[in-house]
Amino acid sequence: MKKNTLMLGIETSCDETAVAIVRNGTEIITNVVASQIESHKRFGGVVPEIASRHHVEQITLVLEEAFKEAQVTWDEIDAISVTEGPGLVGALLVGVNAAKALAFAKQKPLVGVHHIAGHIYANRLEKEFEFPLLALIVSGGHTELVLMKEHGVYELIGETRDDAAGEAYDKVARMLGLPYPGGPHIDRLAAMGEETIDFPRAWLEDSYDFSFSGLKSAVINKIHNAKQRGETLKSEDIAASFQASVVEVLIEKTLRAAKEFNVKQVIVAGGVAANRGLRKELEVRFSETEIPLLIPNIKLCTDNAAMIAAAGTIAFEQGRRSGMDLNANASLLLK
Ligand code: KG4
Ligand code: ZN
Repeated sequence: MKKNTLMLGIETSCDETAVAIVRNGTEIITNVVASQIESHKRFGGVVPEIASRHHVEQITLVLEEAFKEAQVTWDEIDAISVTEGPGLVGALLVGVNAAKALAFAKQKPLVGVHHIAGHIYANRLEKEFEFPLLALIVSGGHTELVLMKEHGVYELIGETRDDAAGEAYDKVARMLGLPYPGGPHIDRLAAMGEETIDFPRAWLEDSYDFSFSGLKSAVINKIHNAKQRGETLKSEDIAASFQASVVEVLIEKTLRAAKEFNVKQVIVAGGVAANRGLRKELEVRFSETEIPLLIPNIKLCTDNAAMIAAAGTIAFEQGRRSGMDLNANASLLLK
C-alpha cells in the first residue's frame, strides 16, 4: 500500500524562521522561509538574542502563511517535525516549543529532527536516494562527510576540527570589508579574480576531517602583511585564491571517500553548496567518474523547513517519536 504522509516541518535553529508542509518526504506542498539576515547584517553576524526574539515574532505568522498557501487543514496533517539541534539554543527553543504546543493542541505525533539530517534530506526533495550514499555537508556551522547505508542511519566519517567552511567564508569576507553573510560575496568576487596567491591546503594526512582555521589565518596574515608593506592586493584575487583552497580540499576528500566506500550517489548540502565555484568544480570532477552527483537547488541548500519535514518523514515512518519532554539541544549529535 502506498504511504501518504503529510508532514509539517518547523526550523528555527539559526536565523531563518521556517515552516513547510511536505508529502511523503519527497513533495513540497509549501516551504515558507522568513530570513532575519537584514537584522543581523549591521552586527556582522548572527546575534543570538536578536535571533530568538525574531523567531518569537515570526513563528505564528509563518505558520499561518504556510497553511494558507498549502490549502491544507490540520485534520490532514499526520505529524509535526521540528529541528531539536544543533544550533543556537534560544533560537531552537522557539521552534521546539511551538511544535510541542501544536502537537499537544492538535493531538499530533511529534518528531525531533537533527538539523544536518535535514540538510541531507533536502536532496530527497529532488531525487530518490540510492544507498550507500555519501553526503558532503558544508554550512555556516558544519563541514561533514556522512556515509548512509540506509534511510535514517548516519555514519560520520569526517568533520571539521575547527572552523566550518561557511564560517571561514564569513570571516574572510569580514576581513575584506564585505557584509554578512560573506559567502555569496566571496563567491561573486572569486568569479572575477585569479588564483594568484598560493594559500595552504590542510590535508590532515589520511583523515576525512577538515580544518579551515589555518587557511583563514593565512588569508588574514597576507592582507596584514600587504598593508604593512604598502602593497595592494586585489580583493577578487584573494577571494579566488581562498576559494580555490577550500574547494580543492572539499572535493579531493569527497572524491576519495566516495571511491573508498563505493557509493552509488554523492549528495551535497548546506549553505556553501550554493557556491558557484564549488558546484562547477564538483560537476567537472564527478563527471570524470561513474558516481552520480546531486546538488539541490540553491533555495534548498540554505536553511528551510521542507528539509526538516523530509528528514522527519523518514524518522516518522521508522516509528521514531518524541515526547513532550523534547528539548532544544545546541550540540546534538547526528545518529
Ligand atoms: O546552511 P546555512 O544556510 O546555515 C547553517 O546551517 O549554517 O549556511 C549558511 C552559510 C553562511 O556561512 C554563508 O556565508 C554560506 O552558507 N553561503 C555561501 C554561499 N551562500 C551561502 N558560501 C559560499 N558561497 C555561497 N554562494
Ligand atoms: Zn543549516
